[in-house]
Amino acid sequence: GNVHYYDFVLKEKNFTRLGSTKSILTVNDSFPGPTIRVHGDTAFVTVHNQGRYGVTIHWHGVRQPRDPWSDGPENITQCPIPPGTSFTQKVAFTLEEGTLWWHAHSSWTRATVHGAIVILPAYGIYPFPEPAGQHILIIGEWYKGDVMQIANVAGATGARPSASDAYTINGQPGDFYNFSKENTHRFLVDHGKTYLFRIINAAMNEEMFFGVANHSLILVGIDGSYTKPFNTSFIMITPGQTMDVLVSTNQPKGLYYIAASPFSDGNNRDENSPTTAILEYSENFKPSPSSIPMPVLHTVNDSGTVFNFTRSLRGLASQDHPANVPLNVTRRIYMTVSLNELPCQNPNGTCLGPNGNRSASSLNNISFQIPQIDILQAYYWNISGVFSEDFPDQPPFFYNFTGDTGSNTLIPSTGTRVLMFDYNEVVELVWQGTSVVAAVSHAMHLHGFSFFVVGVGKGNFNNVTDPKSYNLIDPPEINTVCLPENGWLAMRFVANNPGVWYMHCHLERHASSGMDTVLIVRDGYTTQTSMVPPPKYMPPCS
Ligand code: C2O
Ligand code: CU
Repeated sequence: GNVHYYDFVLKEKNFTRLGSTKSILTVNDSFPGPTIRVHGDTAFVTVHNQGRYGVTIHWHGVRQPRDPWSDGPENITQCPIPPGTSFTQKVAFTLEEGTLWWHAHSSWTRATVHGAIVILPAYGIYPFPEPAGQHILIIGEWYKGDVMQIANVAGATGARPSASDAYTINGQPGDFYNFSKENTHRFLVDHGKTYLFRIINAAMNEEMFFGVANHSLILVGIDGSYTKPFNTSFIMITPGQTMDVLVSTNQPKGLYYIAASPFSDGNNRDENSPTTAILEYSENFKPSPSSIPMPVLHTVNDSGTVFNFTRSLRGLASQDHPANVPLNVTRRIYMTVSLNELPCQNPNGTCLGPNGNRSASSLNNISFQIPQIDILQAYYWNISGVFSEDFPDQPPFFYNFTGDTGSNTLIPSTGTRVLMFDYNEVVELVWQGTSVVAAVSHAMHLHGFSFFVVGVGKGNFNNVTDPKSYNLIDPPEINTVCLPENGWLAMRFVANNPGVWYMHCHLERHASSGMDTVLIVRDGYTTQTSMVPPPKYMPPCS
């Protein structure tokens, strides 16, 4: 493969949305940021931090074999890049093909610091007819306030963080928001062709329904791996996910809305208007754009539709792209995913979360604490007192997780506890949603791997009957998945990537309140199965 070099200059710049101007952190002055375009090669990205605070950058979905040093999550694999300094990261593409993305991975900076990664087919051929053109479509959220301040206020008060003020497509809220109409993003197409849309959900806290008026979609890839072509009128894309969709321009020449609206099944919902862009046919002589058709978007709490959508996803599993689903599991992990409360620890004794407590969240009843220096460094150099190797394979108690409201006072413990794996363990991990405090869906994400989603169901996981319905033939191989509310999801992967890898919900308000942990995969017995040594320079931990 080839080697590409990129410079990412992070600095504050004024942007105007919804009629007001504010300064946001950008990469190379653009929002969304620049696209990385590769062919299964290696990219070296030098990040120059000219902003006001320390930041890190992460390559979402890039497996980074044996090299967690460039992965990026703050205080997990590196300390932040101090203002006025630079850090070069090596991004190595191996098996990924399709669309991924990059984003800041410190506090809430990813709201404005993100962009697409396009990985063209390694051998120049798509497993579907070559599209006539390609478009990148990034769904995001715009906050009128400063995102770092929103995160800090929520952290200090224990309150649920303020919601965004708009959803966006390629940085623009679209026609249904004040002061936005003239900047609505337009995707130009010719009649009678097929286009590949590379769709990224970069929203902070919102799973999204997405559709194109009068046009059907063919889903052909998720998270940098191909899927069996799936014909659908809509997709539901969870934060962190990327979906490759074919759209055929077979409708009368004209204007059509492309739109995204939230999917949220909790009671405590934040909801803005749908964000829109326009599919604009060339030589379109329609005089008045006043009657642009809208796609049919599902209602905000239509969890049945989302459950069926998640269940219908299939990996390509063709001769050229064999599935390689791990069959002989050697390690089983059952992990509850919960919203919780934690006692208020303010000196004045009251917090703004539920019942005067702090809003919190947990995995296996442990609310994760991000340490002061990064776990990778502490692991590599044997620095004690930073983390403990005792994250449990089972929840501390078993009960009816999705029905027993008597357990809703369960207080999690806090700590920096990590899951340890021997090299090449064959892992099955079942995430179990709970109804502690509230039953909502989650955007579960793992760094360093793509995993096979072999099963998904409602209610409590039954380890005798549920595995009988697993799909071990053509499960999708992805890195982020929607765990249904009050449901379970089983995934498999082989722990063949030695290093330190973050696991978390990609809804930012959950990740920043403890719905996260770290997987450490130990070295094998040879240099080829061990972590590479650190680069000469890593940002210092203060
Ligand atoms: Cu999109 Cu921890 O990442
Ligand atoms: Cu979550």
